[in-house]
Amino acid sequence: MTLLSIQNLKAHFHTEDGAVRAVNGVDMDIEEGEKLGLIGETGCGKTVLGLAILRLLSENTTVEGRILYKGQDILTMSDHEIRKIRGKEIAMIFQNPLSSMNPVLTVGTQVAEPVELHQHLKKKDAMQRVIEMLKSVKIPLPQERVKEYPHEFSGGMRQRAMIAMGLICMPSLIIADEPTTGLDVTIQAQIIELMKEVLRDSGTSMLLITHDLTVAAELCDHIAVMYPGEIIEYASVRDLFKDPKHPYTRGFLDSLPDRGLKPIAGISPSLIDLPAGCKFHPRCSLATERCRKERPELIKVGIKHYVRCFLYD
Ligand SMILES: Nc1ncnc2c1ncn2[C@@H]1O[C@H](COP(=O)(O)OP(=O)(O)O)[C@@H](O)[C@H]1O
Ligand SMILES: [Mg+2]
Repeated sequence: MTLLSIQNLKAHFHTEDGAVRAVNGVDMDIEEGEKLGLIGETGCGKTVLGLAILRLLSENTTVEGRILYKGQDILTMSDHEIRKIRGKEIAMIFQNPLSSMNPVLTVGTQVAEPVELHQHLKKKDAMQRVIEMLKSVKIPLPQERVKEYPHEFSGGMRQRAMIAMGLICMPSLIIADEPTTGLDVTIQAQIIELMKEVLRDSGTSMLLITHDLTVAAELCDHIAVMYPGEIIEYASVRDLFKDPKHPYTRGFLDSLPDRGLKPIAGISPSLIDLPAGCKFHPRCSLATERCRKERPELIKVGIKHYVRCFLYD
């Protein structure tokens, strides 16, 4: 069953320089229990999409389209309704745990917040739950560490605490934004192992946002490839690696260290001045007149494999 269905989602910021079209017609479904990786270069709108799902974008943003969660449109919910969903039904692990944690509150107090708010546990019971949770993300001596402040935690331990905070209310969907970025390779591998373990037995769905395709491949069943503001390919991890269809996806794969490190020629377009037609056409060696004028739709090319490219029309 579909847990989250995003339909023609747009999120535009209004700035002095013009409208920044960060999300520009995204269609994407997440099934119950599915782990979906959202990949793309820095600046292509991944975080904005994640924040839009939880209605966390700033006031100067126009958001259009539909975000159906269990059939109900998040974009038309009252503030009261969305607050009941945030942290409880859908939780987010934010990019950069140091800046998203409050430096003057202990880690225990912060991780306890969602259970106090949503499950109305008393402080003492909430702290007990936090200690159990920190134990499950393998933070040593949790009963001591709950009393410490974020700066007393190492980067890896802070990320573990963020994962604990995200999962403490057992949400149906977790949005994890670059959970391993900025950590050194060994710690990164530990966090990936941990996420595999904590997600394996829970039915929790995940939207994993990352610029690192290998991280997505380790943790996800399916991958959606984003190119400024839109999804240009969606496939199972296996199909994406074995049979990538979009010229951008192929280029992205060829740029990986174990596949030749060949960068894609050209640069991503500005979100203020997006090209007409296919957004990738200025960088695509296969582009035709049609690509310069018309925006391709997502075309089905296999079982659960879709691509936004006229080559397959
Ligand atoms: N509040 C904002 N006002 C204006 N532009 C923004 C705002 N937040 C993000 N952006 C722009 O939206 C684009 C997409 O950003 P983001 O979603 O963070 O990219 P990423 O894919 O790296 O997560 C960027 O160009 C960023 O500068
Ligand atoms: Mg981001």
